Amino acid sequence: MEIIKDLGRLKEVVGQVRAAGQTIGLVPTMGYLHQGHLTLMREARKRCDLVVVSIFVNPLQFGVGEDFEEYPRDLTRDAELAGGVPVDIIFAPPVAALYPKGYNTFVEVEGITESLCGCSRPGHFRGVTTVVNKLFNLVEPHVAYFGQKDAQQVVVIKRMVEDLNMNLEIVTVPIVREADGLAMSSRNVYLSPEEREAALVLSRSLTTAGELIDRGERDARKVRETMVAMIEGEPLATIDYVEIVDLANLQPIDRLTGPVLIALAVRIGKTRLLDNKMVGVNNV
Ligand code: PAF
Repeated sequence: MEIIKDLGRLKEVVGQVRAAGQTIGLVPTMGYLHQGHLTLMREARKRCDLVVVSIFVNPLQFGVGEDFEEYPRDLTRDAELAGGVPVDIIFAPPVAALYPKGYNTFVEVEGITESLCGCSRPGHFRGVTTVVNKLFNLVEPHVAYFGQKDAQQVVVIKRMVEDLNMNLEIVTVPIVREADGLAMSSRNVYLSPEEREAALVLSRSLTTAGELIDRGERDARKVRETMVAMIEGEPLATIDYVEIVDLANLQPIDRLTGPVLIALAVRIGKTRLLDNKMVGVNNV
């Protein structure tokens, strides 16, 4: 495994692999890897000749007052974990290599970036789509892998790939959870033991929503209200949003009649956590 920080060296490797007719798989990450990331890498390993993991804490997708500075970083630990998969390349450029002085170009997907996380994190998805675009241009992957935990990010990236006629496949991998249900996230490291316990309210509320729907509830408002009441019952939790949305346009729905996304963002103490569940509902 090689750790590449230099754009020129990456270009050289990518050129050789492409010239040999081999496939490249990219797993974009911000590092501090966990089992969710490793699952993406293992999927890439099954299909691709060259597996590249990018590790880059992208300043452009963090707003003022967010956790860009505190975001956990440990390249030695990440290299050990990625090496165990194994992956071939860790691409970990410095910020100045991706955004040199005078940098002035941004990629923006409209509409679907305005709801859910887009409301509380204005500019976030513009940062994500810009950096993902740059990573696609640099690594030239045939396939790129993203986790379903960031459900809106997946919808936005798929939209960008289709709208800009990008020549690669996006593969989504299901959420990986801790044994007690907490969705894996690099930000879980911020949680105190008490907060870690309180954070289970996210996955529990999704399980309850699934049970209500399985029992025949089709009123999205009632499902949402049940979830909100559960989460509000947890003293350490503050809701950012709990929404039941159409999977295609991410707009809230009234009746559960087709595939929907139940998505939530909740602060546990100061830590903002995401979770979601996709539910396929038959017409009633
Ligand atoms: O999901 C993430 O970790 C980031 O948003 C991504 C896709 C690596 C872009 O910085």
